[in-house]
Amino acid sequence: MIVFAGRLRYDLGSMSAPTKSLADWLPAPAITALRHDLLAWYRTHRRDLPWRRTRDPYRIWISEVMLQQTQVATVIPYYQRFLASFPDLEALARADIQTVLKHWEGLGYYRRAHHLHQAARELVRSGKGRVPDQHLAFRALPGVGDYIANAVMSIAFAQPRAVVDGNVKRVLSRLGGIAEAVNQASAHRVYQRAADLLLDHGDPATFNQALMELGALVCTPRSPNCPICPWKARCFAHLNDRTHDFPRRIRKNPVPTHAMVAGIICHRNRLLIVQRPSEGLLAGLWEFPGGRRNRSESASAACRRVLQQTTGLVTATDQKLVRVHHAYTHFKIELDLYRCHKVSGRVRLNGRQAFRWIRPDELDAFPFTGVSKKTFPKLALDRLCSTPYRRP
Ligand code: ADE
Repeated sequence: MIVFAGRLRYDLGSMSAPTKSLADWLPAPAITALRHDLLAWYRTHRRDLPWRRTRDPYRIWISEVMLQQTQVATVIPYYQRFLASFPDLEALARADIQTVLKHWEGLGYYRRAHHLHQAARELVRSGKGRVPDQHLAFRALPGVGDYIANAVMSIAFAQPRAVVDGNVKRVLSRLGGIAEAVNQASAHRVYQRAADLLLDHGDPATFNQALMELGALVCTPRSPNCPICPWKARCFAHLNDRTHDFPRRIRKNPVPTHAMVAGIICHRNRLLIVQRPSEGLLAGLWEFPGGRRNRSESASAACRRVLQQTTGLVTATDQKLVRVHHAYTHFKIELDLYRCHKVSGRVRLNGRQAFRWIRPDELDAFPFTGVSKKTFPKLALDRLCSTPYRRP
């Protein structure tokens, strides 16, 4: 089938097989037209987002880090609160990590917050005190990978560096009929090459944001809105009626679910919280003491065992308060939370860095793990530790 798009002629008969690169599908004049059409679409359809009202590289950096694993609508209030408390690099460097984590609480992927904080401290300590405008210097900071480096260098400093995130890969795979799986690390360079080819060197800041915006608003994962797409006349997937075949993904093994138990140990109207180690998963965040349940034990027996192992306390389990589910990148957890009472012993931590006996109304003062936070609305905090122990 021959298709005409503008003044260009495409032979779909010879091109209906997925392609290896964008250049196989798009001749140079088409690329110029694509840039023009995308920028024109963006001018009228772009969302007014807080980080689009600034050229401050620090603010753009914070926004891109938050947006890396999180939806725009979720990010906005976090971005605003974070910048109200830490308006510049110096303020972030001065803050203690617990305060920074409290501002990140609920956003997930907490390593991002640790890295931003470390990077701010490095920059202030080294006397630079500002975000580097050299790609290599910026790329060397903690947590700065190719995506963040390219996004900040292009958006804040207008450097010609193409960004490739999940939205961009989806758009490019459909546009060019690129067969490489978007979730395969080795395919990243194929998508980076395609983005490099398309990038508008005249205005890389706008081009990159426009491409991400197209992926977020039009070329969406399940029901792309092709009729309104500025690229529909040149899109391989659309012209072949195969938008649902792209992007391709490799099937990954399902993630395991771990059964966990945790206890709110009450003692004299207070409850025990513990802090995770300063390294590793959810570093520095607070939680109710707990751990993995073995297949062979009941949840309440598991709870007493793990509480003794992790806190040194002998406890009695009272009532089951709630069951919550939570998904991390590589596993899921199903957590049973019990109300417990201290029977004997003193706290001797095993595998945690600190503990506090707090009143229930003090929970909000600490940055908690996501799964712990999920339990809060289901706890009757005013009565949590004041009701006497009832043997179940
Ligand atoms: N996702 C990643 N970066 C973005 C940006 N600058 N605007 C909107 N969504 C994004």
